[in-house]
Amino acid sequence: MTIDNDLAAKLGAAPVVPLVGGNDPAVAVETAKALRDGGLSVIEVVLRSDAAQQCMEAIIEQVDDVIVGAGTVLTLDQAKSVLDSGAQFVVCPGLVDNIVEHCLSNSVPIYPGTMTAGEVQRAYAMGLREVKFFPASLAGGVPMLKALGAVFREMRFMPTGGISTANLGEYLALPHVLACGGSWLTPADAIAAGDFDAITKLAREALAIADDTRK
Ligand code: 3PG
Repeated sequence: MTIDNDLAAKLGAAPVVPLVGGNDPAVAVETAKALRDGGLSVIEVVLRSDAAQQCMEAIIEQVDDVIVGAGTVLTLDQAKSVLDSGAQFVVCPGLVDNIVEHCLSNSVPIYPGTMTAGEVQRAYAMGLREVKFFPASLAGGVPMLKALGAVFREMRFMPTGGISTANLGEYLALPHVLACGGSWLTPADAIAAGDFDAITKLAREALAIADDTRK
């Protein structure tokens, strides 16, 4: 199975992408296992700490049955580096041509952030049919996504930013939402307390909402 097909299958079954941060590879591994055990197996490790890439590498090496991507990728060098480390998809907060081109030419799924019709149209012109919608709640939330979806009929969106169990169902009810991303599944206090069961519970809750919305 190619990564595209595997990723599509996993997101189809569980259209929620938890963000994993932090600075400690051992903790990142436990967090990823807890998420997977809760049914979420597409994980975005955000490059927001000095050891983020090591956290991603540790998950790739030690956690079975997950697809691991790198998020908060800001430069082409970072994109090349995370791909060398085994990242299976790339997420950026914005739309950057050289990162998109590099990923497309290497057949790596890339989700650049967009929040306006102009950005979505530019992504569309670059050949993308899936983009991040970020920061979702501040960029207009569900009403804005409805408006964009009406115009860009082939585009699918990954809203991220301000999503939680409270509004996940509203986003997933939109047929052009590929998946929702967010950090609500990996709360810092639960991680600091070593309460990985809480993370599994949050993942299960999200999956139940997804199943209810999409069945
Ligand atoms: C992102 O990187 O996509 C956002 O910072 C996630 O936003 P959230 O913390 O509100 O989920």
